[in-house]
Amino acid sequence: MIDIHSHILPNIDDGARSLDEALKMAAIAAADGITQMVCTPHMFNGYSRNPEPSEVEESVDKFQRAIGSEGIKVLPGNEVRFSRDIVKQASSRQVKTLNGKNYMLVEFPTESVPKGAASIFRQLLLEGLNPILVHPERNLAIQRKPSIVADLVAGGVFIQVTAMSVSGQFGAAAKMCADSLLNHNCVHFLATDTHRPEKRAPILSRGRDAAAAVIGTDAARRLVHDNPLAVVTGAAIQHGAVIPYEEASRSPARSFFGRLFRR
Ligand SMILES: [Fe+2]
Repeated sequence: MIDIHSHILPNIDDGARSLDEALKMAAIAAADGITQMVCTPHMFNGYSRNPEPSEVEESVDKFQRAIGSEGIKVLPGNEVRFSRDIVKQASSRQVKTLNGKNYMLVEFPTESVPKGAASIFRQLLLEGLNPILVHPERNLAIQRKPSIVADLVAGGVFIQVTAMSVSGQFGAAAKMCADSLLNHNCVHFLATDTHRPEKRAPILSRGRDAAAAVIGTDAARRLVHDNPLAVVTGAAIQHGAVIPYEEASRSPARSFFGRLFRR
């Protein structure tokens, strides 16, 4: 398996706090069957000093030497906080794309979906960069209305759901939203988004197995292997069309009360 979203790089953001802790995480990942991890320090959300791409690359090289050739392979990247500036940040190479190829992790704030997001993503696509929106299932506005994600996917955005959300470890609302996105063919990757060896552990297998219960084993494997492999090699992702949300279910809260008061 390949993990495209991790905070395993030591002492660079709110992830691993020491080389020892990072090595412990690398060992847990390897034991789980993860062979490659993209290290994606936060950018522009206050959790890091916004490291230059060259600093991320140097840290990854240093970390790889500490892991050794027997352990997991680590690759450079970033997780970039959404703003109107992300197109400029990407085109002027202030941020590191995933393994330096044509995919970029983008994070929304937790509570809301920024206005004009679809148009900013369109501009990124025009620059030849594929945006991957991370953990939408943990966003409160999207939990209320998952069809927002279907609309973004229809516009060319790729979606990464966090493995722990699918296995229910981020609570019922995240799990329900994750399952809904899986059922509508709106998920392209599972990732660990690991921060610690214990609480936010680098484990993909649990999420993969939970996803397999919803979409089947082959489709679940694509989320942790085939699609992430395409990302780190800069290849195209093979995926089916979105299964549209019906008008009645575009707002789950409303349709729930609709059903309740129908009679
Ligand atoms: Fe993250």
